[in-house]
Amino acid sequence: MAQKRTILIVDDDRDTREGLARALSDSYRTLAAPDAESALAALDADPSVALMLSDVRMPGADGVALMKAAKAKHPGLPVILLTAYGTVDAAVAAMKDGADDFIMKPVDLDQLELRVQKEIETSALRSEVSGLRSALDEKYGMEGIVGSSEAMKKVFRIVRQAAPTQATVLLEGPSGTGKEVIARAIHNLSKRSGGPFVAVHCAALAPTLLESELFGHEKGAFTGAVARQIGRFEAADGGTLFLDEISEIDPSTQVKLLRVLEDRSFERVGGAETLHTDIRVIAATNRDFKAFVAAGKFREDLYYRLNVVDIKLPALKERAGDIALLAQKFLREYSEKNGGLVKSISPAAMKILESYPWPGNVRELRNVIEKMVVLAGGEELGPDDIPEDVSSAAQRSGKAAPHVPAGDVPLADTEKAGILAALELHGGNKSRAAEALGISRRTLHRKLNLYAAQEKAGAAQTPPHG
Ligand SMILES: Nc1ncnc2c1ncn2[C@@H]1O[C@H](COP(=O)(O)OP(=O)(O)OP(=O)(O)O)[C@@H](O)[C@H]1O
Ligand SMILES: [Mg+2]
Repeated sequence: MAQKRTILIVDDDRDTREGLARALSDSYRTLAAPDAESALAALDADPSVALMLSDVRMPGADGVALMKAAKAKHPGLPVILLTAYGTVDAAVAAMKDGADDFIMKPVDLDQLELRVQKEIETSALRSEVSGLRSALDEKYGMEGIVGSSEAMKKVFRIVRQAAPTQATVLLEGPSGTGKEVIARAIHNLSKRSGGPFVAVHCAALAPTLLESELFGHEKGAFTGAVARQIGRFEAADGGTLFLDEISEIDPSTQVKLLRVLEDRSFERVGGAETLHTDIRVIAATNRDFKAFVAAGKFREDLYYRLNVVDIKLPALKERAGDIALLAQKFLREYSEKNGGLVKSISPAAMKILESYPWPGNVRELRNVIEKMVVLAGGEELGPDDIPEDVSSAAQRSGKAAPHVPAGDVPLADTEKAGILAALELHGGNKSRAAEALGISRRTLHRKLNLYAAQEKAGAAQTPPHG
């Protein structure tokens, strides 16, 4: 028989404690505490407590203060509050303060067990999902970079293959598509991860400044060169040099760059000594680089030197499925930073986000979600929380769904995407996928059966999408 879960009952009244314990004893193991202080001690002493059931009115710290303290230390712990002062207001306030549920006194004992069971199941599911997510983030997300579109899966594959090598990498993609985060991931996954990652934004500097920034200069090399200055090529020794907006480099610097890429040697500006550096170069551009080369604006030989491994990051609107995945990742991130109130995005709101063209790509999506989370009024972000310019542009693009009430919790979609990604990564091997996800093979099976059943039901009800 499965082991009983533990419930902590907190009430200053002994009869109430004993009554509740008796009512729950068939299905649960119970612990009891007469006040907030001993309740917190009991939680610390017994990490297996699955739920806390606490009175609100108690001498000393009350139930709401206890709940806050308990949740601060044990974030996933579900708490049900008992309130004798049965006004709707008190109950609403308790929920706002973070209670998972509340029960009016006198307690209806039949209801009690059901409500307790529901909270325990919900919290188990929540922690399973969050475990899955972090397992995925670690194993396949690469430094928090997410994506389940074919395009991003291909990117992850190339990154994984190229990272451990010394090969020069060229990242191409519109602004905000993740070129810099991919460059950092390559560095972090390489044998150079213990060395420096040095980024140079080539477009930000005038040609002569860029040259001295890259190669350094000797004292007196030019007016204002009052001391010797080492350049980024030297600073990146043993690590990775990221040359962002590479297409903007002027012709004379291009020549010097070509030489470093060929034999890793260079001179400081105004210097005679030839220096050597041990670096891996990653370059990025948001231009149509090939066209740039064809137009004679960039040396072809240098282009081929840079373009050993080519990674193309498509615009966000071309990556089906990634918008929802990214939106949920950013929601979690910003919600955590802002007190954790916001928990989900309604399906209707997600549809709107998915039909917006995202000219600023992932960066823009991140900013929009941050704004929505900060200004949100409730647990779920709905269509009304979407900034006006985004929703009207989405509407214009013609695909936006009508305003429908929220249905399913979209958490499930992320989980499904994660499981399918893991399976694909392990060539369909269920044991290995389950292991990588940190779940049992049985759980994986159960979820796959569920998805199959859902798909069948969905196919029976709705015609296929066009
Ligand atoms: N796949 C992804 N998963 C998670 N976050 C991402 C992803 N792609 C981009 N981001 C986030 O989007 C923002 C923009 O990414 P990044 O700075 O790497 O873009 P970029 O291509 O270098 O843009 P630019 O050309 O404007 O320099 C960052 O906050 C980054 O963390
Ligand atoms: Mg960038």
